[in-house]
Amino acid sequence: MVSYKELGLVNTREMFAKAVAGGYAIPAFNFNNMEQLQAIIKAAANKRSPVILQVSKGARSYANQTLLRYMAQGAVEYAKELGWENPQIVLHLDHGDTFETCKSCVDMGFSSVMIDGSSLPYDENVALTRKVVEYAHQFDVTVEAELGVLAGVEDEVAAEESHYTRPEEVIDFTSKTGCDSLAISIGTSHGAYKFKPEQCTRDPKTGILIPPPLAFDVLAEIEKKLPGFPIVLHGSSSVPQEYVKIINENGGKLPDAVGIPEEQLRKAAKSAVCKINIDSDSRLAMTAMIRKVFNDKPGEFDPRKYLGPARDEMQKLYEHKIVNVLGSDGKA
Ligand code: G3H
Ligand code: 13P
Ligand code: ZN
Repeated sequence: MVSYKELGLVNTREMFAKAVAGGYAIPAFNFNNMEQLQAIIKAAANKRSPVILQVSKGARSYANQTLLRYMAQGAVEYAKELGWENPQIVLHLDHGDTFETCKSCVDMGFSSVMIDGSSLPYDENVALTRKVVEYAHQFDVTVEAELGVLAGVEDEVAAEESHYTRPEEVIDFTSKTGCDSLAISIGTSHGAYKFKPEQCTRDPKTGILIPPPLAFDVLAEIEKKLPGFPIVLHGSSSVPQEYVKIINENGGKLPDAVGIPEEQLRKAAKSAVCKINIDSDSRLAMTAMIRKVFNDKPGEFDPRKYLGPARDEMQKLYEHKIVNVLGSDGKA
C-alpha cells in the first residue's frame, strides 16, 4: 500500500472546490507514454495550472499500470525541476469499471479514481459507486462517478438525447454514493467523430461540419439540484481542424472528424463543470506531426526526430487549452 501523499500527488477535493468557486475548470489529460506526460507537465508547469493525469484501461494495458504510476511520481519531481514549487498534480484512473481495478489503483498510489457504472442499471451503479467510495475515502482518495451515457457515434439523435443525465436522479445518486464529483452526459462523446454529418450543419465556405450545441439546459437543471457540486465533462476534445487537415494531407484519412466547439467548453468551464477530459486532441496533434515528418523527411528513422516535434505540438495544444479554454492558468 502506497499513499499518493508520499509521492507528492494531491487528490481533487480542494482543486475542484476552488475551480467551481473561481469559474474555471481543471484539465484532465490522458497519457499513455513519456512524450505525452512530458508535454502535459511542461504545459502545466509553464502555465502554473493544476492538472489531472488520467490513466485509462487502454493505457493500463498498453503501458502497464505500475510503470504509469512511477512515471507520474517522476512527473512530480520533473515539475519541481521545471521551477514549479508546489505542483498540483492528480493521478486519476479514467473509466474504472470494477471495484478491484479501483482498489488496485488506490493501493498503488493513485490520488483519484473514476468508477464508471453508467452502463449499469441505476441501483447497481449506486451500489458499485458506494463500495468504491467507502474504500477510497479511507485513504483520502477522491472518487468520480457517472450518471447518464455518453452517446456513441452509431446512435441516432433521439437515442442520444434519451441518454442525457436525468437531473431528477442526481441528488439521490450523489447522496447515496458519497461520490466527490459527477460525470454527466449532455451531448459530448468520446473520440474524433462526435457527431454524424447529418446531425451537423456544414459551413458553405469551408465545408467544415458545425455540430449541434450541448444540452446546457440539462447542465443548468443539474446545477440547480446540486449547487456547487463538482461536475465533470468527458468527451471534450474539439478535434482541431488544422490537425485533421495536416493528417489528411500527409497520407491520413479522417473524413468528417468533428468535436465540441471551444466556445461551448469555455461556457461549461465557467459553470459547475470543473473537470474537462481531453484525450483525442492530443492524439490528433501527435499524429499530425508524426505524419508530417514522415512525409517531409522519408529518410528519417530516429524516433526522437518525429516524437520530438509531436511532443512540442502537444505541449502547445495543452497550453492553449489551459489558457484559452479552461482558464486554469495561474491557479497553482
Ligand atoms: O475514455 C476514453 C479515453 O479517451 C481513453 O481511451 O481507452 O483508448 O485509452 P482509451
Ligand atoms: P475525448 O475523446 O473527447 O478526448 O474524451 C476523452 C475522455 O473523456 C477521457 O475520459
Ligand atoms: Zn471519458
